[in-house]
Amino acid sequence: MKKKYYIETQGCQMNEYDSKKMENLFLQKMNFEKTNIKENADVLIVNTCSIREKAQEKVFSLLGSWNKLKNKNPDIVIGVAGCVASQESNSIKSRAPYVDMIIGPQTIHRLPQIYKDCTQTKKTIIDIEFPLVEKFDNLPSEKVSKFSEYVTIMEGCSKYCSYCVVPYTRGIEVSRPLNDILYEINSLVKNGTKEIVLLGQNVNAYKYKDEKGNFINFGLLLFYIARNKNIKRIRYTTSHPNNFDEETYLAYKKLPQLVSHLHLPIQSGSDRVLASMKRGYTVLEYKSVINKLKKARPNITFSSDFIVGFPGETEEDFLKTIDIIKEVNYDHSYSFIYSKRPGTPAASIIDNVTSDEKKERLAFLKKTIDDLSKNKSQSIIGEETEILVEGKSSKYKNMVTGRTTNNKIINVLGDKKLIGKILNVKVRQLENKTLLGEIL
Ligand code: SAH
Ligand code: SF4
Ligand code: F3S
Repeated sequence: MKKKYYIETQGCQMNEYDSKKMENLFLQKMNFEKTNIKENADVLIVNTCSIREKAQEKVFSLLGSWNKLKNKNPDIVIGVAGCVASQESNSIKSRAPYVDMIIGPQTIHRLPQIYKDCTQTKKTIIDIEFPLVEKFDNLPSEKVSKFSEYVTIMEGCSKYCSYCVVPYTRGIEVSRPLNDILYEINSLVKNGTKEIVLLGQNVNAYKYKDEKGNFINFGLLLFYIARNKNIKRIRYTTSHPNNFDEETYLAYKKLPQLVSHLHLPIQSGSDRVLASMKRGYTVLEYKSVINKLKKARPNITFSSDFIVGFPGETEEDFLKTIDIIKEVNYDHSYSFIYSKRPGTPAASIIDNVTSDEKKERLAFLKKTIDDLSKNKSQSIIGEETEILVEGKSSKYKNMVTGRTTNNKIINVLGDKKLIGKILNVKVRQLENKTLLGEIL
């Protein structure tokens, strides 16, 4: 009987991508099969995130529950992968000594060897190096692909914002060779993928020098990818305001496959806070990027990340964030209260904002964006638009759900045969937060 693996994924899309690559290793290189029931698994892996303290603590409570399974069956192998593995290998060893494998984000391709070593030696194996280029060379490719697939094009971050662990957990910015990316995308598309989502901590910091000495930046990469006409949509996340090149603006003019929605985190609307965060731009500079994008693609819409209650954030600073939210008219956000991360420079800034105040600000910020989003949804009722169908609706039994180029979700009558198709629809009504439409 084949052994079984179980993987739980926390954190960002990069982790989802990496987990999928680990699955491919189990299936193609280690002769395992997948299980969704942890009680049946021979190997349990959690792919972790350490961006905020809460995310990290979740890992330790999960490991506690897995240890109970291991007490019943000592042959079970427990692995911690991802950013907590990278940053907290020592505390994993002391707080959860029963963990057998500690694998950083850049060494997941070594999983087969690490597994072999820990089962043979019965010792905890720790591998949290950053041999980045090696990682992608050693990962098996997809056998089945979905209509929408992630492709990591660069990893790591060299920006060192004062509050953030990512440069320490994933290492500095490193871009994958152009041909490797195009090869991976082409094989996904051959298997039926219609939408490519390019991933990177600062995806548009992509830069690569090919064998002939040609310099490929992010914008040029978009043009290369768009040459494959079977790709209906190209999305990317997360972009950094300081990394937009002229070719990317041009791509918004020339490439209709590139969607009209961009996740472009500003974090705060106060120049004072931005400076303390070491973001490397002012509100005015951020707005100038937005304006150039709008010039190239007039109907483009935006979402952002916000950190609320950064140490020393005054009410006035916070209200400046609300101002920029209204001005840019964001329709979505990932917003969190600042979390102090050990080892980061911001951890030593005196924080005199009370927890209640931070919670109030966060709730107000979320409500502001929710209202803007609702207004925008309402404003497209009656319009004709295109959606790419993603799957069956979770809310309505006889409907499928699709996304417009502006990232609005619209439900229409239909079944799973429509998945992956681009449909022309008329937007009919807004029910709670869900748009309903009719296929034309
Ligand atoms: N590179 C991207 C985002 C990567 S991290 C960028 O700079 O925009 C994802 C998000 O987590 C960040 O945008 C930020 O909003 C949030 N984040 C990072 N560190 C945090 C911390 N210490 N506390 C709260 N939120 C944090
Ligand atoms: Fe973190 Fe800043 Fe890098 Fe984003 S740009 S990953 S917030 S250090
Ligand atoms: Fe979390 Fe690491 Fe992603 S810290 S957000 S899993 S890069």
